[in-house]
Amino acid sequence: MGVIDEVKQRTDIVDVVGQYVTLTKAGRTFRALCPFHSEKHPSFFVYPEQQSWHCFGACNTGGDVFSFIMKKQGIDFGEALRLLAQRAGVSIPSRFEPEAEGKERQRLYQANEAAALYFHNLLLDSSAGEKARSYVIGRGFSPKTIADFQLGFSPNSWEGLKQYLTDRGYSESELLNAGLIIEAETGKTHDRFRNRLMFPIRDARGHVTGFGARALDDSLPKYINSPQTPIFDKSSSLYGINLAMAAIRQQNLAVIAEGYMDVITAHQNGFHNAVASMGTSVTEKQVSTLKRLTKNITLALDADAAGEEAMLRGVSFENTLGAEVKVIILPRGKDPDDVIKEDAKSWQKLVEEALPVVDYKFNVVTSELDLTTAKGKSAAADELLPIIAEIKDTVRQAHYLQKLAHLLKVSEHSIEAAVTRIRPRQGRGRAEEPKQEVATHLHPLLSSPIEEYCLALLLQHPELKDKHEELSPEYFENSENREIFIAWQRSDKIESLKEELEPATHEHLDSLLTRNLLNTKIEQKYAECVLRLREKSLRSLATKIEAVLALEAQSGGRAADLAKLNEQGIEVNIQLGKVFAQKSQRRLEQRGVRK
Ligand code: UTP
Ligand code: MN
Repeated sequence: MGVIDEVKQRTDIVDVVGQYVTLTKAGRTFRALCPFHSEKHPSFFVYPEQQSWHCFGACNTGGDVFSFIMKKQGIDFGEALRLLAQRAGVSIPSRFEPEAEGKERQRLYQANEAAALYFHNLLLDSSAGEKARSYVIGRGFSPKTIADFQLGFSPNSWEGLKQYLTDRGYSESELLNAGLIIEAETGKTHDRFRNRLMFPIRDARGHVTGFGARALDDSLPKYINSPQTPIFDKSSSLYGINLAMAAIRQQNLAVIAEGYMDVITAHQNGFHNAVASMGTSVTEKQVSTLKRLTKNITLALDADAAGEEAMLRGVSFENTLGAEVKVIILPRGKDPDDVIKEDAKSWQKLVEEALPVVDYKFNVVTSELDLTTAKGKSAAADELLPIIAEIKDTVRQAHYLQKLAHLLKVSEHSIEAAVTRIRPRQGRGRAEEPKQEVATHLHPLLSSPIEEYCLALLLQHPELKDKHEELSPEYFENSENREIFIAWQRSDKIESLKEELEPATHEHLDSLLTRNLLNTKIEQKYAECVLRLREKSLRSLATKIEAVLALEAQSGGRAADLAKLNEQGIEVNIQLGKVFAQKSQRRLEQRGVRK
């Protein structure tokens, strides 16, 4: 997932707008006095379900969270992105930061490499490392394992590593940047990792990007990890990937566990396809990394978090992979490290018997509900249908619809009818829920197929340039798409287009430029696209107006406002009517052509 999507995923428009204006909940919307012009009666609305805003007053415009920030702060897309990224705790990879690349990163890799070696040698044969040595032996790690994972020991000293690395020519600022030392309030710096067992974390190319560090006893925190640095992003790293890559390819399967210890024990026992998400729930980025090696992913989940995690993300991962994701439910209170040490065969069996996430969810539902009662059936449908609705692969989706119909002993027809009514789950988490829990596929702004198709057509077919007056930036609800469209309008060459655009959008732009399109009847397709875009944008506006009208009517809104809104509603419907007329006209024409 690109950084822009990640920012969207972790951002709730209600929270953001709520920082600038006082929002009052009103039905399914929030309303406020418009922050962009002065008014006495609130005509500014935020729609959590669509993650959008609209002002029906003087502005008569709207958009998503990016356009809100851009307008409110008077900044451009890139600046809005940085602001929202910072707020959401998403780091913009330095390759998107102008000129930051290259040398600096190389130095950080080298500093980490040197640190890994320093820690490793201390574990192997320093007297200070005695306690750590007995700890790893106690955990059952063989000398080969210790060497393969280059485990280490950080001495109980404030400046051991700092001294060692500055002697080797690294500056304090480089070490700070690598997260190896910390600056105290006094301004003095000291080693970050002290008196801990060290786990160097390597990327797929083998570079040390960061460290995990375990306490040698029960003291807390159990683990300290490297902070976010220009080369380390925990949520996109997979511990053990450098050692697991070959096995993952060969076995065509990756098993994702949670912890450092799980990976190490798995490898030591011959399960070389194990990697770890390092504590946090698995992310789309981690799945994308693995996708290059295999389409088959099995998540080892502990019993408590299992249902939650698997369902929240499993189907979304399946859509990313274009394949099934399986889950291993661990025995309560145990992690893979425990299971494997106890009995490697039983781990093997768990892996072999892993269930596809959706089947797993079926099992949970079946075991929790009485499916002989109408109430139980309807509760089961409520739980399972939204999940089935997320499955992009139509064949697999059909499979689970059948399975559900069978399970509930109702007709497939009624189940199918129900699933078409399902929209992506509504009412996204409010502020008190952790942001990361908002799954990608539930987010209304993460992708807009018709906008993207239309842009791909425009970008790949310069001959459409003189037709673009039919389109307006307003049709693009997704700010990233809107940015690309505006830049495309302004520039005459693709190369200059890139220069106009915020670097973080380049990835998306490239995917549009390289999308496979059938090169026939381009103009016709384009015309259809424009119509569908218009329709989409008008429908979305109509929905918004309806919501507000219903609200105003309920609360006995002022007649003048009602009349104005009504008028806007009527206008939108007229426009929609025109779109429909054009569409049927086109259909007639095409039939005429075919005859
Ligand atoms: P666990 O608490 O399950 O630890 O956290 P573990 O890996 O099983 O370690 P042992 O067996 O108790 O020694 C799982 C993973 O979550 C991350 C680490 O990556 C850990 O391996 N974690 C856990 C942290 O980052 N910080 C913590 O304080 C705890
Ligand atoms: Mn453990």
